[in-house]
Amino acid sequence: MATQVGDVVLDVQDLHTYCFTRLGVVKAVDGVSFHLRQGETLGVVGESGCGKSMTALSLLRLVPRPAARIVQGKILLQGENLLEKTEQEMREIRGRRISMILQDPQTSLNPVFTVGNQLIEAIQHHHKGGAKALVQRAITALKQVRVAAPERRVDDFPHQMSGGMKQRVVGAIALSCEPRVIIADEPTTSLDVTIQAQYLRLLREIQQETGLSIIFITHDFGIVAKMCDRVMVMYAGKSVETGSVRDIFNHPSHPYTQALLDSVPKLEERTARLFSIDGQPPLLWKLPEGCRFAPRCPYTEARCETEYPPSFPVSEGHSADCWRLERA
Ligand SMILES: Nc1ncnc2c1ncn2[C@@H]1O[C@H](COP(=O)(O)OP(=O)(O)O)[C@@H](O)[C@H]1O
Ligand SMILES: [Mg+2]
Repeated sequence: MATQVGDVVLDVQDLHTYCFTRLGVVKAVDGVSFHLRQGETLGVVGESGCGKSMTALSLLRLVPRPAARIVQGKILLQGENLLEKTEQEMREIRGRRISMILQDPQTSLNPVFTVGNQLIEAIQHHHKGGAKALVQRAITALKQVRVAAPERRVDDFPHQMSGGMKQRVVGAIALSCEPRVIIADEPTTSLDVTIQAQYLRLLREIQQETGLSIIFITHDFGIVAKMCDRVMVMYAGKSVETGSVRDIFNHPSHPYTQALLDSVPKLEERTARLFSIDGQPPLLWKLPEGCRFAPRCPYTEARCETEYPPSFPVSEGHSADCWRLERA
């Protein structure tokens, strides 16, 4: 599934997003760095609560207030640091240059407005034009996500559409302003497997047509294999391993990645349990001092419990935070 990849469009450096709660400071994102090239799909994987969504929301500067705050780092979108933008400037950037497909298509459409109205609502933030031109753009947006008879469906209300169709409308809204980067945060969990596969194929097709870059957040390694070019594995607010899909599947180098891959059920029995690694991720406000995975890791040695490992290169473009790699 090779796509043509180009220049770096998004470069995230040492991002820290903390939640300030009564129990203490939750280090939801704790020094995460990664980049994304034009036309590339980066998969972000990890158990629930490891900071995937908080990373995504940070990129859009939409972290939940007042608890969460981006406290450090750089988010360079085509060379411009989004953390230095005003709120007004961010409103221009969101949707138009970086956009997000929300987690649950059932709840992200408003039941009292037609899908056409909801598309137009999104489109008119960035395109001026008369009512007729906007309706035409809405129809084009539906066509792009392969909604049949878009001239008719544009007047439908969400409840008149199937789950898969609604998912595509949500995608159309996110794509309507032709963003360079789109973040899809577990967009498929509430859909059945066939519809899910169709939707993912559609996203890849649109990517091939437009050179869009995709950040694909999921807890499902099976989907990563089908969808992504590169992978970032997150654990307890850190990026613990990154590499090409092939490197990650053939040479998983962090014990957490190895455990995740071991727990992936065979593709035929996909609905079976995911992530049956013994133990629990640490509480993000009571992090162990050294490696966060040490309490669950089969290879833990003394140093792992006192010192967080640096990122060691495994091969070109492949690295992992694990002391075992120092010797390799
Ligand atoms: N509004 C909030 N207030 C306090 N903590 C939060 C809030 N939202 C998320 N968190 C914490 O941030 C961590 C990362 O959450 P999240 O990014 O949603 O994880 P994921 O998407 O990987 O499941 C979680 O452990 C959660 O406890
Ligand atoms: Mg999430």
